[in-house]
Amino acid sequence: MIVPSVIALGVLATAVSAASVPTFTAPAAAPTDQSSFYVGAANNTLTNTPIVTGKVFDRFIQIWLENTDFAQAASQAVFTNLSTQGITLTGYFGVTHPSQPNYLAATGGDFWGLASDDLESVPTNMSTIVDLLDQKNISWATYQENMPSDAYVGYNYTNSDDYTYYVRKHNPLVIYQSVGSVQSRQGRIRNFNDFAVDIGNNTLPQWMFITPNLRNDGHDTDVAYAASWLNYWLVPLLNDPNFNTDRTLIFLTFDENETYTIANQVYSILLGGAVPEALKNTTDSTFYTHYSALTTVENNWDLGNLGRQDTNKTVSNVFNFVASNTSYQNNNLTLSSTLPELNLTGTIPGPLNPDYYVPYVAPTNGTGGGSGPTFFAPNVNTSLTAANAPAPVNITTTGAAADLTSKANSIVAAVAVAVFAAMLL
Ligand SMILES: *[C@@H]1O[C@H](CO)[C@@H](O)[C@H](O)[C@H]1NC(C)=O
Ligand SMILES: *[C@@H]1O[C@H](CO)[C@@H](O)[C@H](O)[C@H]1NC(C)=O
Ligand SMILES: *[C@@H]1O[C@H](CO)[C@@H](O)[C@H](O)[C@H]1NC(C)=O
Ligand SMILES: *[C@@H]1O[C@H](CO)[C@@H](O)[C@H](O)[C@H]1NC(C)=O
Ligand SMILES: *[C@@H]1O[C@H](CO)[C@@H](O)[C@H](O)[C@H]1NC(C)=O
Ligand SMILES: *[C@@H]1O[C@H](CO)[C@@H](O)[C@H](O)[C@H]1NC(C)=O
Ligand SMILES: *[C@@H]1O[C@H](CO)[C@@H](O)[C@H](O)[C@H]1NC(C)=O
Ligand SMILES: *[C@@H]1O[C@H](CO)[C@@H](O)[C@H](O)[C@H]1NC(C)=O
Ligand SMILES: *[C@@H]1O[C@H](CO)[C@@H](O)[C@H](O)[C@H]1NC(C)=O
Ligand SMILES: *[C@@H]1O[C@H](CO)[C@@H](O)[C@H](O)[C@H]1NC(C)=O
Ligand SMILES: *[C@@H]1O[C@H](CO)[C@@H](O)[C@H](O)[C@H]1NC(C)=O
Ligand SMILES: *[C@@H]1O[C@H](CO)[C@@H](O)[C@H](O)[C@H]1NC(C)=O
Repeated sequence: MIVPSVIALGVLATAVSAASVPTFTAPAAAPTDQSSFYVGAANNTLTNTPIVTGKVFDRFIQIWLENTDFAQAASQAVFTNLSTQGITLTGYFGVTHPSQPNYLAATGGDFWGLASDDLESVPTNMSTIVDLLDQKNISWATYQENMPSDAYVGYNYTNSDDYTYYVRKHNPLVIYQSVGSVQSRQGRIRNFNDFAVDIGNNTLPQWMFITPNLRNDGHDTDVAYAASWLNYWLVPLLNDPNFNTDRTLIFLTFDENETYTIANQVYSILLGGAVPEALKNTTDSTFYTHYSALTTVENNWDLGNLGRQDTNKTVSNVFNFVASNTSYQNNNLTLSSTLPELNLTGTIPGPLNPDYYVPYVAPTNGTGGGSGPTFFAPNVNTSLTAANAPAPVNITTTGAAADLTSKANSIVAAVAVAVFAAMLL
């Protein structure tokens, strides 16, 4: 169900007390190995289109951790160490609370007013970064730790040890029906056994979104636990040429700040061979948000745009070292400027906000990080726009909200039954 978006101010994103945090256990000898812990069997290796050269990098790998205070992350040895090998972004912000809307924003350019982690499904007429990449034949995939089968639609998954490691709310592309419900795209919503096979065959794609499980990302544990996972998983992969080449940009970030009532700043770092030698062990205080990960990719491959917050120049600066290579003009806001509030929860109108409901509207023609045009999904109603949409209404009482949710649930339930049936075969 959609919980009315009243979220108590001051609530802390879920984190368990230090006393109950278990000890990190490596699922295999190396991150390139398969593991029964990852649950889903490897589903063949990817077949990718030929490499499309970008202006600054040929591969973009984003890795999302959870709910951590900037200073807490910065105090972990692994981050201190990694920071010497990359550019630490000291002006980077999540775009709202809680988790799920941040993941949607980073892949679709909007969070649709959402203020919950409930089961949601964005209709097929809403585009994502995948549409822009596909237009230029740039290969992509998401890797989700502990997802039981590729493009799994269930809300979460519990391992045989009775622990729920996988959650859909951190798997953005499956929530977008234009990706998760399209058969030709489902094989690119992959798990970590697929990752092992893909890296082993040197078939990792050019754009990747990586979600560690609820313990490894720090969500159910703490940042020290996430640091142990990084030491197990990321640190060795930095030296693996099938992962990191001199044309790879790795972007490590957190979805949101832990405390709702303060600015939503999160620790983020740019790593990989594409980071110029002279910029290693430096910081960049430019104002970035999760939309910057979209515009930077658009800028690098000169893509089109989504006509949403990726075209909003206030919140979508391109990572500076990329912008300076492409002569892209950023807005020059920094951490010390007066910045927009990005900790607003439940007050932003949208189709997933029952308190301030507006329908899904067509993109607005605009300019993103690249010079390409705004992408319109073939089935989008171009006459329903932000400019002519009805004013937000509170549908919490009308029953329409319940309808919306039961629709999303029934779609997911129907597919889940089909998937389960297939797994039994
Ligand atoms: C959240 O971000 C602010 C700065 O905007 C920072 O001072 C704070 O330490 C961060 N995290 C937490 C949990 O307070
Ligand atoms: C920091 O990195 C260096 C070089 O990769 C490594 O030798 C060292 O063990 C690392 N230290 C920590 C605390 O991770
Ligand atoms: C997993 O899903 C079940 C059923 O919807 C729910 O009761 C449980 O709280 C969920 N757990 C997590 C960690 O999401
Ligand atoms: C393999 O991928 C297809 C989609 O391409 C999916 O339908 C199927 O469930 C996947 N199987 C496993 C074991 O992940
Ligand atoms: C390459 O992919 C196949 C599946 O398509 C898999 O069986 C094999 O183990 C992979 N090779 C490596 C070295 O990972
Ligand atoms: C957002 O953060 C700012 C700066 O810390 C704070 O003044 C404001 O009250 C916060 N807003 C909410 C809705 O928590
Ligand atoms: C990184 O920069 C700091 C100063 O900002 C310096 O103290 C440190 O020695 C540098 N580390 C490396 C490995 O270059
Ligand atoms: C652009 O972003 C700012 C800051 O979040 C916001 O105030 C403004 O409404 C946005 N503009 C549009 C057209 O969405
Ligand atoms: C940002 O700074 C650059 C370099 O100083 C300048 O060329 C550009 O016009 C500035 N952008 C804005 C929006 O002021
Ligand atoms: C929307 O309606 C519900 C139910 O009457 C109410 O609890 C809630 O406060 C309303 N929201 C707003 C923003 O007025
Ligand atoms: C967007 O721009 C394209 C190309 O300029 C134009 O054909 C189209 O009518 C515009 N669409 C909307 C909804 O404004
Ligand atoms: C997108 O699809 C949804 C669900 O079918 C529909 O409610 C909405 O009006 C559509 N919006 C546009 C702009 O096509």
